[in-house]
Amino acid sequence: MSVLFDRLQASAAAVQARLPGVAPEVALVLGSGLAGAVQLLEDPVSLALADIPHMPTPSVSGHPGRLAFGRVGSIRVGVLQGRLHTYEGWTAAETAYPIRLLVTLGARVVVLTNASGGVREGLRAGDWMAVTDHLNLSGRNPLEGPNDPRLGPRFPDLSRAYDPGLRGLLRDAADHAGVPLQEGVYAMMAGPSYETPAEIHMLRRLGADAVGMSTVPEVIAAVHMGARVACLSCITNAGAGLGGILSHADVEATAQGAQEGGVRILRGFLELLAGSSGPG
Ligand code: HPA
Repeated sequence: MSVLFDRLQASAAAVQARLPGVAPEVALVLGSGLAGAVQLLEDPVSLALADIPHMPTPSVSGHPGRLAFGRVGSIRVGVLQGRLHTYEGWTAAETAYPIRLLVTLGARVVVLTNASGGVREGLRAGDWMAVTDHLNLSGRNPLEGPNDPRLGPRFPDLSRAYDPGLRGLLRDAADHAGVPLQEGVYAMMAGPSYETPAEIHMLRRLGADAVGMSTVPEVIAAVHMGARVACLSCITNAGAGLGGILSHADVEATAQGAQEGGVRILRGFLELLAGSSGPG
């Protein structure tokens, strides 16, 4: 008997008791700089993560986590505002819990957004990048521990973790919106310190195009549960040693400036998804 499976069922029941009828088809995680994308939701309803039993809750004051539900056109979307990071002390499994909950509630497509530093030459602050694959250099995996086959397989295949079909929709949406979209490999480092120039040099040689401190545990858990994953990363700065001094304030300001383009890509993506075979 899996504690995780039972907890997810209890969390899902609590969400449905508070917000009857919510059944997201798409889960959307808003990373740094894309918080405003919650405005995409029509007829939104939301609840605090703190009000959901078993939910690990972010403690950073001023950033209360919420789950919001609504429609974008004909698609029902569940949005996580305020993701959890392993560098805050959460386990990888805990950071993935909100995604697992949205998948338990019905989401078959998971769209993750984040901020990252550019590693590949030519990526510039403010660029958007569709993630094609990842390097998990965090030393953590959300699937450590006993596996419950009701959630997914013991050894999930990650060869197509970032769904090529969904990536095509991101590309078409970006083209249509006139927002340039790069593609590349995202490396997850544990953080919270930014990398050293030597680490950025290493990452480039390893095949990374961008580096960040989130997302990978959520991708692994989503794939484990059979969801299709897309990931959109905002390149907020040149990696350490490739540009100026790194600061969180600059990262946030750049992400804020790029937000409008990201929201346009997301809106177009969801419209295309609705017009394709649907999220299923
Ligand atoms: N490194 C790691 N994480 C990041 C960066 C970076 O340069 N920029 C935004 N998130």
